[in-house]
Amino acid sequence: MTDYARLTDHISRRHNVLPICVIAKHLGMEPRHIVEVGVYKSQGAVSWRREFPDAHLWLVDPWQAREPKFSIYRENPEQADWDALHLFNQKFWWGDERAHIMRCTSGEAAELMRLPLDIVYLDGLHDYENVRDDIRRWLPLVTRGGIISGHDYSHGRGHGGVIQAVDEAFGDDKIVCERQKVWAKIIP
Ligand SMILES: C[S@@+](CC[C@H](N)C(=O)[O-])C[C@H]1O[C@@H](n2cnc3c(N)ncnc32)[C@H](O)[C@@H]1O
Repeated sequence: MTDYARLTDHISRRHNVLPICVIAKHLGMEPRHIVEVGVYKSQGAVSWRREFPDAHLWLVDPWQAREPKFSIYRENPEQADWDALHLFNQKFWWGDERAHIMRCTSGEAAELMRLPLDIVYLDGLHDYENVRDDIRRWLPLVTRGGIISGHDYSHGRGHGGVIQAVDEAFGDDKIVCERQKVWAKIIP
């Protein structure tokens, strides 16, 4: 089996979706539909677009303040900040006819989705129950040969549930790129 962790080890930690792009290209994929759950400032989405200029990007995020506040953000955004972030994303992707901003939760987006998905990247809520539910709801929508994946496969603060949910779903039969804390499962 290809050692994807080694193949992707040179990639900067900041661009955590890039290992998935490397894997997809290595597999010869030409993804038509990519979903990112949890978009925030589109840092990951920009990489998807750069690596796959023709793909439809389905960018799912409620941009919604919640209690308790996200522990992962130093700035702890208020609702006005989330609204501004949503507007920023709308403006940023304006004119890109294949970028689709879905301001809703992961569950709501999965219910709406009727397309065969090539890549799903889960980077929304990081607690065990939500990662487990995200895998359950998105996995059936990924095509054979496609990839379901996500970020923060680590024991870092607020991320503990990712490892538990991903291991429960896939056991050892998955790829982990430790440097970028990314996990991926190629759908057989
Ligand atoms: C870690 S950030 C995403 C970072 C982004 N993937 C990147 O690479 O820059 C997590 C995002 O998940 C979003 N989020 C929170 N609850 C969500 C839900 N139920 N469904 C989808 N996204 C959610 C938050 O609004 C936040 O923007």
